[in-house]
Amino acid sequence: KARVAILISGGGSNMLALLADMAQGDHPATPVLVASNDPLAGGLAKAASLGVPTAAVSHRGLARDAFEASLLEPILAAKPDILLLAGFMRVLTPGFVHRFAGRMLNIHPSLLPKYPGLHTHQRAIDAGDTQAGCTVHLVTPVLDDGPILGQACVPILAGDTAGTLAARVLVQEHRLYPAVLRRFATGDRTPLLA
Ligand code: GAR
Repeated sequence: KARVAILISGGGSNMLALLADMAQGDHPATPVLVASNDPLAGGLAKAASLGVPTAAVSHRGLARDAFEASLLEPILAAKPDILLLAGFMRVLTPGFVHRFAGRMLNIHPSLLPKYPGLHTHQRAIDAGDTQAGCTVHLVTPVLDDGPILGQACVPILAGDTAGTLAARVLVQEHRLYPAVLRRFATGDRTPLLA
């Protein structure tokens, strides 16, 4: 099975959706590490309770290179084939990205190439868009760029706030990321458009 490490910064609901799917017996991948830049990230305890090894490497007070060097230690020790960013809120340097070229994926809460960066839902509402969604893509040194491996759409409804829209998109994130991982772990890079 392909060995998967997951980086999170918060509650880790996408990470939990990925772990739940990988717990299915027929899955082509297995989780070997969940790591966070925030030692208090709620997802760390949840992953540990599911028996997945965890690591916390705080970025606080560290220069980016020193943080990444510390983060690399548990990652390299876990020998992942695939590295998944799942609500990981630190920008990674080109040097880090190149180490995992072609095998690091990210989920982003917009229909890329629209709205890279932050506040994606508010920006989609403010633009008058009728659709929003999420994207899983290969990570390149350019933020929220890289070949798209899957996308899922939701409608933007009258009266939506960033919060109501985020909740609707998150439901699709929890379906899309596991579905893309299954394909990716078997070598299928053709985009999944739902
Ligand atoms: C998700 O909506 C994810 O797409 C987004 O953060 C949330 C994390 O939720 N990621 C980004 O904004 C990346 N820049 P989770 O911790 O419950 O998976």
